Amino acid sequence: MSDTQTNASWGGRFTESTDAFVAAFTASVGFDRRMYRQDINGSIAHARMLARIGVLSDDDCAAIITGLEEIRGEIERGEFPWSVELEDVHMNIEARLTERIGDAGKRLHTGRSRNDQVATDLRLYLRDAIDAIRAELRRLLGGLVELAANEAETIMPGFTHLQVAQPVTFGHHLLAWFEMLKRDDERLVDGRKRVNVMPLGAAALAGTSYPLDRDYTAHLLEFAAPCANSLDAVSDRDFAIEFAAASAILMTHLSRMAEELVLWSSAQFAFVELPDRFCTGSSIMPQKKNPDVPELVRGKTGRVNGHLVALLTLMKSQPLAYNKDNQEDKEPLFDTVDTVQGCLRAFADLIPALRPQRANMARAARRGFATATDLADYLVRKGLPFRDAHEVVGQAVRLGVETGRDLAEMTLVELQAFSPLIEDDVFAVLSLEGSVAARDVLGGTAPNRVRDAAAVARAWLMGED
Ligand code: ARG
Repeated sequence: MSDTQTNASWGGRFTESTDAFVAAFTASVGFDRRMYRQDINGSIAHARMLARIGVLSDDDCAAIITGLEEIRGEIERGEFPWSVELEDVHMNIEARLTERIGDAGKRLHTGRSRNDQVATDLRLYLRDAIDAIRAELRRLLGGLVELAANEAETIMPGFTHLQVAQPVTFGHHLLAWFEMLKRDDERLVDGRKRVNVMPLGAAALAGTSYPLDRDYTAHLLEFAAPCANSLDAVSDRDFAIEFAAASAILMTHLSRMAEELVLWSSAQFAFVELPDRFCTGSSIMPQKKNPDVPELVRGKTGRVNGHLVALLTLMKSQPLAYNKDNQEDKEPLFDTVDTVQGCLRAFADLIPALRPQRANMARAARRGFATATDLADYLVRKGLPFRDAHEVVGQAVRLGVETGRDLAEMTLVELQAFSPLIEDDVFAVLSLEGSVAARDVLGGTAPNRVRDAAAVARAWLMGED
């Protein structure tokens, strides 16, 4: 061994040691150490499989397992001597294992490469992360269903172009959020299938000359199957891109919810009150209560979108198979996981604590001529062609604008001046309650439909369909 050989894992063919800056520049241990648990589990499964096929003695296998479990303890107690010279989590743990158990530690890497090892670790990590994210997501979905069921009869203005359009029920609006996030959950579940495939056995790129039982290793690690092609197994990161894409869509949904919460909690809307514990004040303006949590969720959407583009760009044009470029997959992926999980947790806590301001919502719904379409529909039912009815109601709205009143606040005589078809029964139609109750169609805003939809949503969440 020459004294220039600083890296025991691969230094054999080198005649000078790695430049100190290059060592730091190429190291990933600063961020990939968070996969230590997956790395240890992957190694234990690999050792078990090697022992089963007779490539590793039972004694060596037992020593490896005990050694790795002790290393896990060291890491969790903060006693593990992480070293940048050892580049990444894989070589840190392997070197420590050899330090502790001697030659058996050096046999662990038989029939394996860091290329299939890191791809396996990343998939194991992401699989766990998806499960943790889904737990928060489903907690948020549960909160939305319960609030929606509670608010099935609460009336608010529905908007298009952020102009008052037609009255809707608050519960209906909340269930729209539910549907958006439900699809996000489905996307995560679907993507997880493509995460849950095992690269181990691909070795560096071509497979290995040892008679590995890949099905057995996959079984131990609870992978659905081994990857079918060794070149593909070590090189692609499409599973991470898919997760980032699902996350970007999810964050886009959260940002839309966030935006509405910011608007609704303003004095101008005052549709909801956010609990104080989710807000902060201003150091200069004593009256302020800022909706920081929704604002931050809205803002964090940017970095998740950025990570998706980073991963796509990372993989673009890479020749097969593994390239060091792939080391750059981790930070965007980890930050996506942390960000999405944090945002979901914040919203899952926030939604059940929202305080709807029902009277303000109803007042706002009465202000924007939200029942104008109902009046037009009423005239159609009395025989007027829709286009004529539209014109009649437009004239009534103009009077309302000029005199500062809603349609429901006009007298029968005033309304009849626009059309003799208007009778006493018009006021039921012009009421907010009558308007939403009339939207009694599957997927509509009528309170009974909202209650039905909440029941369906709850059943889906409990896995009943
Ligand atoms: N730290 C590397 C990564 O994150 C591990 C694999 C490196 N393989 C290699 N032959 N240099 O991708």
